[in-house]
Amino acid sequence: MSKNFSRREFLKAAIASLGTIGGAAASARLVDGAGAAPLAQGGGDDPDMGGMMGPHGMVGVVGEVDHEANGFNPSDLLTDFDYGEVSVVNGQTVRDYEFVAINKSIEVMPGIEFPAWTYNGRIPGPTIRCTEGDLIRINFFNGSDHPHTIHFHGIHTHEMDGVPGAGPGLIQPGESFTYEFEAEPFGLHLYHCHAFPLARHIAKGLYGAFIVDPKGGWPKVDHEFFMGMAGIDIDFDDENDFYMVNGIPFHYQMHPIDIKVGDKVRVFLVNFLEFDLINSFHLHANFFHYYPTGTSLTPSEFTDTIMQTQAQRGLIEFTFKHPGRFMFHAHNTEFAELGWTGNFNVTE
Ligand code: CU
Ligand code: CU
Repeated sequence: MSKNFSRREFLKAAIASLGTIGGAAASARLVDGAGAAPLAQGGGDDPDMGGMMGPHGMVGVVGEVDHEANGFNPSDLLTDFDYGEVSVVNGQTVRDYEFVAINKSIEVMPGIEFPAWTYNGRIPGPTIRCTEGDLIRINFFNGSDHPHTIHFHGIHTHEMDGVPGAGPGLIQPGESFTYEFEAEPFGLHLYHCHAFPLARHIAKGLYGAFIVDPKGGWPKVDHEFFMGMAGIDIDFDDENDFYMVNGIPFHYQMHPIDIKVGDKVRVFLVNFLEFDLINSFHLHANFFHYYPTGTSLTPSEFTDTIMQTQAQRGLIEFTFKHPGRFMFHAHNTEFAELGWTGNFNVTE
């Protein structure tokens, strides 16, 4: 496919060719707000239509990926915090995790399969959650056919850095290694494969969040949601063709997140995006407190839009004053139209 062909056109007009590229039947039917496809007409933000189109006539998708075959559902990933297998050794909490690198075909859009590389068969990988000072042990087995690593953000020894040349370096197919370190500092961090070419290994799906709670915990809220922003480069030309939160484009547009007026909401937002420099998060009809990297209990900003470059992350906290369906999305319109858009469904 020519690079002159814009991604918008790619999405709207050339969806059939994706079947060839992805090796899958192109059963996806893309629609836009103009109502070009009969199925989408009148959809709008009518809950009965599953919110297939954005309230502002944003591009949407008809149909649903097979979450069961994928092995994960983005609606579940919002609150799927993994505390590991817990034991206490000499008064210290120890958390053991089993990580396996697996090649896996993921249906990212209806009918479009992406040959992903995953930790534990899902994108993003498990959301590790612990408390500062805990001992974290990641028992990593490479069950795929490429060398991989797990590189954690945080403070640890050279040997545990998960990069080629440090400690065990690349973990070869069929080999294993246990990464071990104390969780610090408190905040919102991430992990990802650090084999080269780095962008390709991350964009294929080898990434996840690493949440280190402060010793006394964060202030209490009604909901905590993890959102990992990323992209999908379907045709491997080092440009993203879709954008999303938690693995599947348009998911929270079709499946809004239910909250109530007055609920305190905390979002752990991480930008795993490769190939594009800047990502963003915009919340409609509301403002939020932003805690960059989650390493301070005092917010740095009260705003409705923040941006993050690669590996930047932060906590977002807000409460809705009014009921209704409210969008959240990348304020970069192109990203939003290519999948990075969702809705909160706020009820009394
Ligand atoms: Cu890798
Ligand atoms: Cu990194």
